[in-house]
Order: sequence, then C-alpha cells, then structure tokens
Amino acid sequence: MTADVAALAYLGASILFIMALRGLSSPAMARRGNVYAIAGMVIAVATTLAEPGVLGYDMILVALVAGGGIGTVAARRIQMAAMPQLVAAFHSLVGLAAVLVAIAAFYAPDAFGIGAPGAIKVASRIEMAIGAAIGAITFSGSIVAFAKLQELVTGAPLVFPGQHWLNLLLGLALVALGVEFAATQDGSAYLVMIALAFVLGVLLIVPIGGADMPVVVSMLNSYSGWAAAGIGFTLENTALIVTGALVGSSGAILSYIMCRAMNRSFVSVILGGFGVETGTTVKAGERPAKAGSAEDAAFILKAAKTVIVIPGYGMAVAQAQHAVREMAKALAGSGARVRYAVHPVAGRMPGHMNVLLAEANVPYEEVAELEDINNDFAQTDVAFVIGANDITNPAAKTDPKSPIYGMPILDVERARTVLFVKRSLAPGYAGIDNDLFYRPNTMMLFGDAKKVVEGILQAL
Ligand code: TAP
Repeated sequence: MTADVAALAYLGASILFIMALRGLSSPAMARRGNVYAIAGMVIAVATTLAEPGVLGYDMILVALVAGGGIGTVAARRIQMAAMPQLVAAFHSLVGLAAVLVAIAAFYAPDAFGIGAPGAIKVASRIEMAIGAAIGAITFSGSIVAFAKLQELVTGAPLVFPGQHWLNLLLGLALVALGVEFAATQDGSAYLVMIALAFVLGVLLIVPIGGADMPVVVSMLNSYSGWAAAGIGFTLENTALIVTGALVGSSGAILSYIMCRAMNRSFVSVILGGFGVETGTTVKAGERPAKAGSAEDAAFILKAAKTVIVIPGYGMAVAQAQHAVREMAKALAGSGARVRYAVHPVAGRMPGHMNVLLAEANVPYEEVAELEDINNDFAQTDVAFVIGANDITNPAAKTDPKSPIYGMPILDVERARTVLFVKRSLAPGYAGIDNDLFYRPNTMMLFGDAKKVVEGILQAL
C-alpha cells in the first residue's frame, strides 16, 4: 500500500470515528454510531497491517485472536452494572500498551524509523517521554479505579497528610526526568521516570472516593487517549494520533459534563477526598417510614392520570426495565400519561438509564432529561422512583454540609404521591440518608425492583 492510499484510508477512518462520537451523543443514534466506530476501526487496523513496515503476520494474528477472544468473552459476560470497571480495565491496557511501545522504541529506535540506539531524534524522545509517562499513570490509576469499583479494595478515599505535596513533588520529578531524557537520552532517567509515573498513577486515584469514581474513569479514558496520541507520533501513525486526540478530548469533555451534573468542580474531583465521613450522616432506619404493598401501589397508580418513572441504579441491578415498561404500558392503556425522568448521573455511568430503557424499547419521546421535566412534578400524580435514591435527595438543596450539596436533583417530592421501590431504607452511592423516605406523601415499596414491579403489574 502506498503512503498516499494509507493516508486516505486513515482519513476515512478518522471521519468515521468523528461520526461515531456524534452518533453516541444521543440514544436514538447510538447504535449507528457504534457501527461507524466498528467500520472505522476495521479500516484503521487493515490499513496498518498493509503498511510496508509490517514484516510478518504470525505474531499479529496470535495477538489479534487472543485479544479479540478475551474482549468478546468479557463484553458478553459483563453485567451492565459492572460496565464502569470493565471500561477502567480496558483503559489500563491502553496505558500499558503506550508504555510498552515507548520502551520498545527506546531499545529499537531503528525499527520505528526514529533514529539509531543512542541517536534518537529529539522530537521522538519528547513524544516517547510524554506518551510513556501518561501511559504509566493511566495504567496504574486504572488498576486502582478497577479495584475500587470491583470492591476488591475499599471505595473510601485514602487520604494522608501532605498527599498533594507528595503528588506535586512526583509530578515535578517526572517533568525533570522527562526533560533529562529528551536532552541526553539517558536510559536510566527514562526508566525511573516511567517507574515514578506508575507510582503517581496509584497516588492520584487512591484519595478519590467511590462517588467520584465514574468521573475518574472518564478522566482516565481521556488520559489513555492522550497516551495513545503521543505514541501515534512515535509510530508516525496518523490514525492513532487522531483517534487518541478524539478519545482524549471527548473523555475530558465527558468528565466536565459529569462534574457539572454533580455540581462538583473538576479540580476538587481530581484532588480527591470526596466521600469522607462528614459527621452529618443520619443512620438509615432511625425514623419510621410508611411502607405499602404491591396492591397498595397498584391502587394508587390506577387512580393516577400522570405518572413519572424515575429509574436509578437499583433498576439496573434488578434488571427491572422490562417489567417497568410493561407496567407503563398497562397504565397508559388505562388512560394515564407515563413518562420517564432521567437524571444525568443516575446509575453508575453516563447514559446508564437511557441504555436500559432503550433495551426495554421505551420510546425515546417518553424519556425526558432533568431540566425538561423537573417543573412537571408539581402537576404529577405519582412519582415512581425505582432503585434511585441520591438523585432525588432534597439534602442536595437544603443541607450545605451534605456531600451532594449543590447537585441538581429531580424534584420528585413535589408530586402528589411518591412511591419508592427499594429493598430497605439503606442509603445510596453517596452514603447519606434520604429525608424523602419519611415524608407523609411517600410510600416505600420494599423489595427487589423487578419483583415489586411484577407484583404491581399483577395487581393492576
Ligand atoms: P443510588 O443513590 O446509588 O441509589 C440506588 C438505590 O438502589 C440504593 O439506595 C439501593 O437501595 C437501591 N437498590 C439496589 N439494588 C436494588 C434492587 N435489586 N432492587 C431495588 N432497589 C435496589 O443511585 P442513583 O439514585 O441512581 O444515583 C446515582 C449515584 O451515583 C449518585 O450518587 C451519583 O452522584 C453517583 N454517580 C453516578 C455517576 C453516573 S455517570 N451515573 C457518576 C458519578 C457518580 P437498597 O439497598 O435499599 O435496595
């Protein structure tokens, strides 16, 4: 393949990746977006394999089959609720790949066309240093994020005095060693820099609490993109540079959007410490809450003209979306208007609820975003909160000491009746009690979300 044809193919792949991102920005177009991404990736991989620099296919084939096999099994087996840790695990591999390529380029620069051992081009040295450092931070940071999300280690923030200073010191040491390597090609400076970057990755993520972890995963996604772009320069592969930059910038934008939805500043997230006991936490179950049965709920719902369903993490855990859709159909059949209110950080990852509702074939026009539906609760008969908690918690508006203070919430309390489907009075992700459970217009429907909804459906 000539260089011109390869460049054209890479351009085509890059355009498909941009169209993929565009598609993924709305649930209605997400599937098409995925198809564009797959097509772009097939073109990019095929073009790379046809490059004259590729000398043999045996090892590549083994790697493709092994990697593709593991990826396929992981994607098929993974539970929806465990998606964030899968994404974290995948990012760690991107980071590790960047480090390995950068090390390989150092020992065999001639194979990469960037000079000879001991005489690597200056520009390449800078790219290798940046790519390897960001890759190493991404790798170890993603491993810690994975372990926290998978609950292999505690999700609580690990904070110690002088932490930020230590991180700053390590960051400065990285820069100094990177400059030293770029200037002198000193191999030990290069390897020490990479080792310190692994340590910094761990230290950056340990102080970040569970509630901020999805933002961190998205931030690590961004890092992995920049690491890939850096390595793209070393490999002189335009597709990798463009793809890395797309991943880097979209991950950064997504982190920003999530922070805004939680009303947290990006800096406060990456500096960590969120989720530490504030001392204001009320122990769940200390106050009496009114509980009802599926029959009670069916009675209330039957009389309702307007119903808004508020799905949350518990709906995902219980896989209750199909039952919810059936219930909504039954209610609509008897004349009620049923809509769904999706909070931007409901569940555990962006678009979590949209994906589940789409899977249950809920029409997109029945699904509304927070800002479009929040004023309607006051004129709504029933707010049906299923497996959601923090995103309805009025403490976000009233209690400045609450860890979720300032987060925009769905004003379900303004509905005539609030039905809460969850298994207990236990708190949600942020670890705080929800005053709504004890309000006079609230009825708790205790049980697994799917079972409760199926019970209601039967009673209807
Ligand atoms: P949560 O506040 O975590 O509440 C989920 C509730 O579901 C829990 O209180 C739990 O109560 C219930 N539950 C769990 N399993 C259940 C089951 N099988 N059946 C019925 N109920 C079940 O979830 P949310 O309201 O969706 O809020 C999301 C939280 O994640 C927020 O704090 C948000 O800031 C955080 N977060 C999300 C994101 C993204 S991108 N989505 C990003 C960063 C942070 P029981 O144990 O009593 O059943």
